[in-house]
Amino acid sequence: MKAIVLQDSASPDNLRLVERPILKPRRQEMLIRVKATALNYRDVEITNGTYHTAFSLPLVPLSDGVGEVVEVGADVTRFKIGDRVCSTFWQRWVGGSFRMAETGYQRGGPYDGLLAEYALLDEQAAVLAPKNLTDVEAATLPCAAVTAWHALVTEGGIKAGETVLVQGTGGVSLFALQFARLSGARVIVTSSSDEKLERAKALGAFAGVNYQRIPEWGDAVFDLTDGRGVDHVIEVGGPQSFQQSLKACARRGQINVIGYLGGREGGINPLDIFTRQVQVRGIPVGSRESFEAMCRAIEVNDLRPVIDRTFHWTDVVAAIGYLEEGSHFGKVGLVHG
Ligand SMILES: NC(=O)c1ccc[n+]([C@@H]2O[C@H](COP(=O)([O-])OP(=O)(O)OC[C@H]3O[C@@H](n4cnc5c(N)ncnc54)[C@H](OP(=O)(O)O)[C@@H]3O)[C@@H](O)[C@H]2O)c1
Repeated sequence: MKAIVLQDSASPDNLRLVERPILKPRRQEMLIRVKATALNYRDVEITNGTYHTAFSLPLVPLSDGVGEVVEVGADVTRFKIGDRVCSTFWQRWVGGSFRMAETGYQRGGPYDGLLAEYALLDEQAAVLAPKNLTDVEAATLPCAAVTAWHALVTEGGIKAGETVLVQGTGGVSLFALQFARLSGARVIVTSSSDEKLERAKALGAFAGVNYQRIPEWGDAVFDLTDGRGVDHVIEVGGPQSFQQSLKACARRGQINVIGYLGGREGGINPLDIFTRQVQVRGIPVGSRESFEAMCRAIEVNDLRPVIDRTFHWTDVVAAIGYLEEGSHFGKVGLVHG
């Protein structure tokens, strides 16, 4: 089979199409024919060597994908041949607290990812893809969508009538927008682009603030809530934007620390957390239990992920360059086959 492998050292130039043997599934594994994959910012960082953890190479990249089960190991009971399944990000986090995750078991690094014609999945590290989604749509769920669901629903207990602040219009933030609307919450979006803010409003956002034109956007967001503040924040900007998020928060608001797209530098004054009694937590994607709950919601409500653009999987270098450039709105997918 063909696979794309990050060879020798991290750099997009070292992504090579290679021939690899198709492996036999062991007792609890299944072989899937990969139908689509999707990019996350993490994949860009792993390829460029800027991810916070360096993995040993060679590595088949990409945590996220969907495929058809074509062979099952002798003891597989959760799936059968012909099922369409998504990979999970954490191979061993079935449910409960993150202590159950065994952090060495992430797909797309250090475990081989799905950028190949075939892949082996442990049956405990897969979920049935929602029936209402196309292959590319289903491929976008394992990392970005589960992160947004875990933050707002599993941990956040989001309620109708609350206000959610989502930063930027990338994969995680647009899923958060969609899940917040599904829950009856109001959404305020920040973006570097007025055109993207309009597109976010078309998806159901109540208001938008351009974080480049208004560097003190925290006050602007707070003003949009009639002086109450936001109840949930999807914080992907990093320490600098965290200061603004604090200003935007309601008392007992929840800040989900997810990414650091604006850099890692900056100071946080704990007294600002104290005065607003804000709750701050890190979000490490989510468990299979969260993934399955999210898939039920997606199917019941016919929610469709926002796909900005798709590439053929062998054009992954161009796809990575496109995501890095930052003009996308939502997810970038890769079609296999
Ligand atoms: N903790 C976790 O489990 C987890 C899971 C998934 C992702 N992440 C992290 O979360 C972040 C977002 O991931 P993603 O996959 O959604 O990325 P993405 O699809 O590449 O989205 C990036 C978008 O964020 C916005 N952005 C860029 N710089 C920003 C800044 N300084 N402040 C606010 N927004 C900014 C831009 O939107 P506009 O063009 O609209 O300005 C950009 O298009 C990344 O840092 C990623 O590593 C963490």
